[in-house]
Amino acid sequence: MRIASIIGALTGLLSLGSAASLTNPLKKTNGSDPFMVYADGYYYLMTTTWTNLQLTRAKTLEGLKNGETKVVWTDTNSARCCNVWAPEIHKIDNTWYIYYTAGNGNNLDGQRPHLVLRWQLTNDWGIDGSVLRVSNQNYFVWSCFPEPDVQSLCIAPMTSPTSIGSRSVLSRPTNAWERVGSPPAVNEGAAPLYHNGRVFLAYSASFCWTSSYQLGLLTYNGGDPTSSSSWTKTGPYFSSANRNYGPGHNAFFTSPDGKEVWNVYHATWIQSGACDGNRYTAAQKVNWRADGTPDFGSPQPTGTVLVGPSGE
Ligand SMILES: *[C@@H]1O[C@H](CO)[C@@H](O)[C@H](O)[C@H]1NC(C)=O
Repeated sequence: MRIASIIGALTGLLSLGSAASLTNPLKKTNGSDPFMVYADGYYYLMTTTWTNLQLTRAKTLEGLKNGETKVVWTDTNSARCCNVWAPEIHKIDNTWYIYYTAGNGNNLDGQRPHLVLRWQLTNDWGIDGSVLRVSNQNYFVWSCFPEPDVQSLCIAPMTSPTSIGSRSVLSRPTNAWERVGSPPAVNEGAAPLYHNGRVFLAYSASFCWTSSYQLGLLTYNGGDPTSSSSWTKTGPYFSSANRNYGPGHNAFFTSPDGKEVWNVYHATWIQSGACDGNRYTAAQKVNWRADGTPDFGSPQPTGTVLVGPSGE
């Protein structure tokens, strides 16, 4: 009896010891604007490189540190060659599409949302395009300027994976925590989040060259998703903590067994914040409150050993 329980305890310890673990950051530099998806046995990570689109894949989160990396897109057209930001890969109707932001190499006025092989999605300034799905309809959500200095979230129904309908403004940066470093006051980096039939949209607020870059949350209450009145805004969440400054521009992905939702985000070790390649990619689990809303917690200190996603 005694021996059996000792063996039981040892087996428990051994299996704990063999559970996948990870330490952040997953990508030390040029880890900005991360997007991650788990599909067919691999995690696929994309981050902003400024020059091209790259996919890194590995079977574990920890493995992404030495993952297989391929450049999947480069462009010489001067209108969209450069300032390549915020790539996201989405599977729609069994086809993979990569949405990203790009412009010219001279300034940031030419930034437009693009789609690989299909080019530009809007005719005016836009960045950080993502795809939100509500009741079997896809919506393109991106960051736009409805008025000067008010960088907001815009939304439009997608008439297909490659085209969008007319746009509405979904969220303007009206709260003090969305206006640090203003102008510009900022809402950007929208990240759809789904849980138990509910729909949320996290986004990043305030200017990235401050340590107040952080998350806000829109909770969908039903009705027309393109109407801002169908959503409730709360925040801020996931603010600077534990020497992670300006955590944000995140995305959500599910664990290999589909049971957990994880938050992949960037942050910097520079106290005044950063908008450049001095941002690392990190990931941690999302917890859920009793009322069904997400609890992002605080960014854990880099180097902390975390238990890997379930099913790894
Ligand atoms: C990020 O990548 C760019 C382009 O390859 C490079 O010039 C820059 O030095 C990198 N930034 C950092 C902080 O490593």
